[in-house]
Amino acid sequence: MAGKFITLEGIDGSGKSTQSQKISQWLESFTGLKTVRTFEPGGWPDGERLREFILSSKNFSSMSELLLFLADRAEHVSRLILPSLADGFNVVCERWNESTLAYQSGGHGLEVSVIERIIESCNFPEPYAKIFLDVPPEIAFERVRLRNNHSDKFEAEGLSLMRKVSDSYRLMSDRFIHIDCGEMSEDEIFWAIVERLEAKIHGDSD
Ligand code: TMP
Repeated sequence: MAGKFITLEGIDGSGKSTQSQKISQWLESFTGLKTVRTFEPGGWPDGERLREFILSSKNFSSMSELLLFLADRAEHVSRLILPSLADGFNVVCERWNESTLAYQSGGHGLEVSVIERIIESCNFPEPYAKIFLDVPPEIAFERVRLRNNHSDKFEAEGLSLMRKVSDSYRLMSDRFIHIDCGEMSEDEIFWAIVERLEAKIHGDSD
């Protein structure tokens, strides 16, 4: 079995990191392949500086912001994601193109068609599955507020941004394994993801 590239999407505070950890462990034992866990922006070797730069910059135009996220993705792809897949590993990544579409359009006002055109010309690899953790913005916002070490500018823009971003994700619902998290526990969400992924992997191997 070839390594699987799986992305996790959702607004800030939707539980992506928790599920990424659980899914990576599960995927490793299910497929018998080592699983690389990563994230955007900044998940590649030396990417921390670019992450810090993007998330702490206050005065960029939406277009510059878009191009910075894509520059980060280009490095991530060439330095970590493609080499890991070529080595036969699975890759589980928090955030991908749909983050850019949801945040830079819904959140920051760029045209979806413009973002899509630019992303298309980047030729990034297509994930095997994209998981969307659909958590009500009010619940996610409260979680983020309680996290005391997170104050980057995206989170600082608050609930109204989260609502817009959440609406944008929902408009792309057909691209995803869509998990309607509601009041589900972490474990219930995990098992809902596993059920959908197992069905997909089995279906594809028939
Ligand atoms: P994180 O805290 O989940 O790592 O994400 C950092 C922030 O960057 C988050 O608020 C979403 C934002 N972001 C974008 O606006 N566009 C993108 O393409 C990506 C990858 C992240």
